[in-house]
Amino acid sequence: MKISMLGPVGSGKGTQSQRISEKLNYARIATGDLVRDQIEADSELGRELKGYSDRGELVPDEVILDLVRPHLNPAGGWILDDFPRTIEQARILDEELERRGVSLDRVVMLDGPDDDELIERVTSGRRQSLATGRVYHLENDPPPDPMEGTDPGPFVQRDDDTEEALRNQLESWREEAEAIKEHYEKKGILTIVDAGKDVPEITDDILDALGNPQRR
Ligand code: AP5
Repeated sequence: MKISMLGPVGSGKGTQSQRISEKLNYARIATGDLVRDQIEADSELGRELKGYSDRGELVPDEVILDLVRPHLNPAGGWILDDFPRTIEQARILDEELERRGVSLDRVVMLDGPDDDELIERVTSGRRQSLATGRVYHLENDPPPDPMEGTDPGPFVQRDDDTEEALRNQLESWREEAEAIKEHYEKKGILTIVDAGKDVPEITDDILDALGNPQRR
């Protein structure tokens, strides 16, 4: 299946797309990680992207498309994490996939918690593993002991996890969300999932929406 996982910052796109991709053995294409990889490499593009990321602004559509395009493999299953984020990206994605003879099978939109709750989730303890890119939360989903060998870490805060950048991100998401929702509703492939539940329950709801029996 070809899946897209959408929702406001902090709704758990990263958390859930990791869990689903591991359960179904799908590739995960996370645009935020593609942007952070460029920043980490300190390339010319990376230096330009750092400004957008630190301010919580969207990277221009053409730039993000150039990063995503090579990963849109027509064979096998994959999950897009945080793409498309604008209605223009949704339209371009349709064209790109049509050219490859495939289309999205399901779009999962995480929704529910209000903006203050979402910001609290991120600022109160989100940590990301530098080794695996996996996202954790100090209380809700603690990083494993590095000695266990599942994820050696280190587990760090992201540079763009500031309240100002998060509020900007939420604003730009709210501006685009309705149009994106309508776009996929019309195609009959949208499922809205309550992002206010516990992490494993949300995973089960998503697997149900995908018609997959591989629950917990
Ligand atoms: P990106 O990394 O995609 O950031 P984002 O949309 O801001 O999403 P986040 O990763 O911050 O949140 P999330 O929904 O994945 O939540 P998470 O699972 O971490 O993008 C970064 C930047 O790249 C953007 O600012 C932009 O500049 C650029 N970019 C990316 N895509 C783009 C695009 N398509 N177009 C243009 N620009 C783009 O969860 C949050 C925390 O809560 C974690 O600590 C987690 O452990 C915890 N948590 C998760 N679920 C639950 C739960 N159910 N209950 C309690 N805690 C939970």
